[in-house]
Amino acid sequence: MAALSSDDQRPLSSIEKTLRPRRDLPERSPGRRGGRVHTLTSTDGPATGGAAADAATLRVTARTVVADGVVALELASPSGLRLPDWTPGAHIDLVLPDGTTRQYSLCGDRWDPHAYRIGVLREEAGRGGSAYVHDVLRVGDLVGVGGPRNRFALVPADRYLFVAGGIGITPLLPMVRQADLLGADWRLLYGGRRRASMAFVDELSRYGDRVEVVPRDEAGHPDLHRFLDTPAPGTAVYACGPAPLLDAVQAACSSWPPHALRTERFVAAEPAAPVRRAPFDVELARSGVVLTVPPHRTVLEALDDVGVEVLSSCRQGVCGTCEVTVLAGEPDHRDALLDDDERRAGGCMFVCVSRARSDRLVLDL
Ligand code: FES
Repeated sequence: MAALSSDDQRPLSSIEKTLRPRRDLPERSPGRRGGRVHTLTSTDGPATGGAAADAATLRVTARTVVADGVVALELASPSGLRLPDWTPGAHIDLVLPDGTTRQYSLCGDRWDPHAYRIGVLREEAGRGGSAYVHDVLRVGDLVGVGGPRNRFALVPADRYLFVAGGIGITPLLPMVRQADLLGADWRLLYGGRRRASMAFVDELSRYGDRVEVVPRDEAGHPDLHRFLDTPAPGTAVYACGPAPLLDAVQAACSSWPPHALRTERFVAAEPAAPVRRAPFDVELARSGVVLTVPPHRTVLEALDDVGVEVLSSCRQGVCGTCEVTVLAGEPDHRDALLDDDERRAGGCMFVCVSRARSDRLVLDL
């Protein structure tokens, strides 16, 4: 989901440590293999389909139309249990009746341990997930939920510049709250097609002129060059929205220091052609099994062919679910998650899309 993800391992500031809530259950590590898969039904009763050992099911407790084509859902434990903690930028998986999943950013109150909120844009050209949420899911229904996971975490900074396009406001909303709570200097530039199609504008009004709302039919495209101005030390830039906006933000930040910009994409950018066209071998370190991945199969598919299950979700290199540790060999990273440093460091790959540069990869499987 994130083109330049930001799973920064730097220690939290003392303020943020103080503000962190007690964690009964940990937030999912970013993209760890073995992420939870849950079940989904559309009515009361036991969930069905797509079960996993640590499956969990949440109930839709509120459904609100928050903009044209955007509905917000609140989810809670049917038995009132505390939900796993999360941090701004995190997303959850919704498990659809056919077992496939869709990722949605958490956009509610991270300090509320009993409710998750997501905002879902109806995507007319989508694969059916948003239509299901809009047309089928109702208050009282049970839904399967995986996660939360965070590949777009808010790193400590003196100053934040947030750029949102359309439904890309959802992961940034909790970041804005967090930055404001921490007393950081921050600004948000929020663009959309029409004011009526822009979700959560009313919630943002409390922040006054820190937030600049730019409906295209009123004011044209957001002025990124003015907003991003010149690189400033200690400033982190977060952007989420359609690919053209993110490409424009990346271009506007070309002179900023490395890692100043962090983006999250809902759809993977078109990957470059694989480095190698020839088959390569994958050795599974725990069993010693060696399998060959032909050019027309993904590593994930090849693993599945020999009965090695790796949890997956988006299968586009954007959600982080299928992360596998690489013990040897050189991956051809084709995901939208790792930044250049993470790629150089090696150590992991997302097997739904990434392949091999070397003749053999050794995976911790
Ligand atoms: S990154 Fe989503 S399944 Fe691989």
